[in-house]
Amino acid sequence: MNANFVYVFILLNLTSLTLVLAGRDFYRILGVSKSASLHEIKKAYRRLAKELHPDKNQDDPDASQKFQDLGAAYEVLSDDEKRQKYDRCGEDCLQKEGMMDGGMDPFASFFGDFGFNFGGSEQRHETPKGADLIMDVFVTLEDLYTGTFIEITRNKPVMKAAKGTRKCNCRQEMITKSLGPGRFQMIQQTVCDECPNVKLVNEERVLEMEVEQGMVDGQETKFTAEGEPHIDGDPGDLILKIKTQPHAVFERKGDDLYTNITITLQDALTGFSLEIPHLDGHMVSVSRDKITWPGARIRKKGEGMPNYDNNNLHGTLYITFDVEFPKQELTQEDKEAIKRILNQSSNNKIYNGLRGY
Ligand SMILES: *[C@@H]1O[C@H](CO)[C@@H](O)[C@H](O)[C@H]1NC(C)=O
Ligand SMILES: *[C@@H]1O[C@H](CO)[C@@H](O)[C@H](O)[C@H]1NC(C)=O
Repeated sequence: MNANFVYVFILLNLTSLTLVLAGRDFYRILGVSKSASLHEIKKAYRRLAKELHPDKNQDDPDASQKFQDLGAAYEVLSDDEKRQKYDRCGEDCLQKEGMMDGGMDPFASFFGDFGFNFGGSEQRHETPKGADLIMDVFVTLEDLYTGTFIEITRNKPVMKAAKGTRKCNCRQEMITKSLGPGRFQMIQQTVCDECPNVKLVNEERVLEMEVEQGMVDGQETKFTAEGEPHIDGDPGDLILKIKTQPHAVFERKGDDLYTNITITLQDALTGFSLEIPHLDGHMVSVSRDKITWPGARIRKKGEGMPNYDNNNLHGTLYITFDVEFPKQELTQEDKEAIKRILNQSSNNKIYNGLRGY
């Protein structure tokens, strides 16, 4: 009797196991944990899309399948509703309810250019191209420190088929005309083809741009074919340029950060210990036992910006101190006490401010 129970139990377990295994493991495909944030999912997707693009893996017969799996994984995990459903009952569930588009082109200008040529763009040299659009994107220093994704809504004119035909591919050709016996004339004429008519329709499109850690001011992300349309050719590109908003606390130079701290005269003389909130919220502690004079600068290695090429490397944080003097009057006794403690000789220097004359 007991054995029978065990048997039924195992059977049930196997059934549920196969149900889960019937769909693809989207978390494994993206190489992220079940608790991954949207940001982590986007980052993983963007990295893998570059790596697994079929154009780059022409020797791999499974390249296109892998790329499709990646697209499906991203489609589901980047959408809250789909992700919840997937977590509950797997890919089959989503398929059954028609929640998988499947047709999504994960490369459709989603994150800007991936930095390599799509096959065949070379021979289309002759095709006219619309103008490139260059736009500034304002980002905070926090964004550049931690990395983020920003959505850009682009209202763009898109070419759509329209009724009728239009003249296209117009060019100048020489033709020879007979003007009577023995007389000819060469004349130049504009010759055009007949093309299906098109009209420009405004379409709203949301582009998503990754602000990568350590990007620098002026750095560009290219969205292929998101620029001005061209009636006889390809649209130009949209180029987004990073512009850093000024920050209230930190100033950036390369990968280094600079900040100022004003301390009291008392702290300057007796030492202190304080914490500065960094760009991602972590605390940087600063403490000194020695005397700190106005203009003194300390360096915190590894507390600068992450390096763009290697996010594990960080620049240096330079902290310059200013000293706030007390404004209250001192009693005669206090003055004597201070003199006794400091024991500085009145060795005043008079100079013109140009050090090392
Ligand atoms: C620190 O103070 C100096 C001198 O006043 C100033 O030039 C610099 O911009 C300040 N740095 C920051 C990050 O505010
Ligand atoms: C004060 O300074 C003088 C020289 O500048 C030194 O000779 C003297 O010992 C010092 N006094 C104390 C109490 O440190």
